[in-house]
Amino acid sequence: MLRAVTFKRIVLMNLLAEIRERFRPALTSLTDDVDDLLEMIRPAQPQHGDYQANCAMSLAKRVGRPPRKVAQEVVDLLKVDDMCLPPEIAGPGFINLRIKDSWLAEQAAIAVRDERLNVARASQPRTYVIDFSAPNVAKPMHVGHIRSTVIGDAIYRTLAFLGHRVISDNHLGDWGKQFGMVIYGYKHLRDQDRYQTDPVGELARLYQLVNKTCDFQAGKSPKDAAQLAEVEAVSQKHPDLEQRVLEETTRLHQGDEENLALWREFMPACLEALHRIYDRLKVRFDHELGESFYHDRLQQVVKELQKKEIATESEGAICIFFADFDAPMIIRKSDGAFLYATTDLATIQYRLQQWRPDAILYVVDHRQRDHFEMLFAAARKWGYQAVEFKHVSFGTVLGPDGRPLKTREGDAVGLESLLDEAVARGYATVCEVDDKKPGGAELSEADRRSIAEVVGIGALKYADLVQNRTTDYKFSFEKMTALDGNTAPYVQYAYARVQSIFRRGEVQPETLRAANAALVLQHQAEHDLAVALLRFSEALEEVLVDYRPNQLTSYLYDLARTYSAFFENCPVLKAESDALRTSRLLLCDLTARTIKQGLELLGIGVVEKM
Ligand code: ARG
Repeated sequence: MLRAVTFKRIVLMNLLAEIRERFRPALTSLTDDVDDLLEMIRPAQPQHGDYQANCAMSLAKRVGRPPRKVAQEVVDLLKVDDMCLPPEIAGPGFINLRIKDSWLAEQAAIAVRDERLNVARASQPRTYVIDFSAPNVAKPMHVGHIRSTVIGDAIYRTLAFLGHRVISDNHLGDWGKQFGMVIYGYKHLRDQDRYQTDPVGELARLYQLVNKTCDFQAGKSPKDAAQLAEVEAVSQKHPDLEQRVLEETTRLHQGDEENLALWREFMPACLEALHRIYDRLKVRFDHELGESFYHDRLQQVVKELQKKEIATESEGAICIFFADFDAPMIIRKSDGAFLYATTDLATIQYRLQQWRPDAILYVVDHRQRDHFEMLFAAARKWGYQAVEFKHVSFGTVLGPDGRPLKTREGDAVGLESLLDEAVARGYATVCEVDDKKPGGAELSEADRRSIAEVVGIGALKYADLVQNRTTDYKFSFEKMTALDGNTAPYVQYAYARVQSIFRRGEVQPETLRAANAALVLQHQAEHDLAVALLRFSEALEEVLVDYRPNQLTSYLYDLARTYSAFFENCPVLKAESDALRTSRLLLCDLTARTIKQGLELLGIGVVEKM
């Protein structure tokens, strides 16, 4: 007979937050202002227990008593006996905490019954606008776009899961100089047959040709000999190309009929090509208001800023000067042209009027740091004081040589080919796992292909998210699709392994969950797994502290490893009693659900078999 558990409904169960709240009254009776001391309570190295408080040393300095004595005072005041074994004091005054198995079992049982896996919604939901991906259209998406797209999407999903109102807006670069290039190319260099059959391909070719020729005229030759010959030929017939391109761009902005008509003709094909990639990445946006959307507002923005004396004229240009920056922010050039910054100011105004957000996050690479610093400062001057602006910046994707990743010809690596390659590598990983199965391969060719898509794209995304976003990283297909290490396939494999246990045992997870059976934690590996499972909400909160999805990949990797240790030490289907078998199946199921939910928040899928 299985003992049914009576459930206490506990609203928020973030282990770390709970422990810190238990420390608060104890610390408060010894000193004022305990927040920084509470921060010093962290997950412990496994040999020291589950959590460790390092605050006694700092507190000792404040109160002028020896640290070990202060640690003892804290422990004497601490009320955790329902939740923890008696705290231990170690070394100079560390307080080590071990969570009681009975308490863990009860909490894990609550998570089993909870669709949200015991993750509470934010008590004070905020409204966020996230500006991410934002490629310049008319040129194909390249490797540089993966970071903004994937990081932004993960932040979007995590915020939404925690109960915030989130609005994603893809601020497409659909109005810039690249259109001047494409328009010039179209007028003078197009291959009409090719344009008819593959408009996007032809526009991309024209963009690249014009861009390379401009570079060539500025003194930068392509490395590839065939490209060089082509560029030289174009250059001879089209001198001053940069100037011509700027003229076409200006004409477009001034409403020239022909150029506007071309722009309208090009846009749908460009957007279709973009959306093919977004569909494959399973990324979607609530809004896609590109730069062109703001064009008609720019005049007004500049006027208003001038009227409020926030912007002033300097050498014919309209500028915003700041005390903290040497250079001003130019919002209208002396020839009347508006700039990237002008559009961004208009965008802020629009977003605030439209959605009234508490925060706007810009997931854009680190080279635009100065731009955003000035932009935010300008917005503050303009009167937008209450909203939080945050540049969620990220580093560069490097090739094996440690330089920005390029093709052999020196071009940016196209995103589409990168996805194809990732899927091909994912396929190899899937075959490797399948072929090694003790009873022989199980998967059909069709299964292998569809699993490879999830594994390959998952690997690519995960490899990006796993990085500390602010540093550069070296791109490596080998590493990202490896089955060992902190990779998507490793985590996805843990999920698939649970599914296979359920299939072999012919157990329905839903039926199991509904039975309200108790969890029994006997082995250290079971204890560790339960702790890891209950840390999920802690990990999600960590993600949001500084918008770092790598907090979640670290968590998932840790969970998968802890699961693996459990799997090696604790027989599940052959457990020594029914109660233990049920309990272990519940732990397996909770692990799988947590992995699935965690990966979903990263925009990564799971597979039932691998
Ligand atoms: N299109 C820009 C680029 O490719 C990124 C735009 C980022 N968002 C923004 N609101 N400025 O560099």
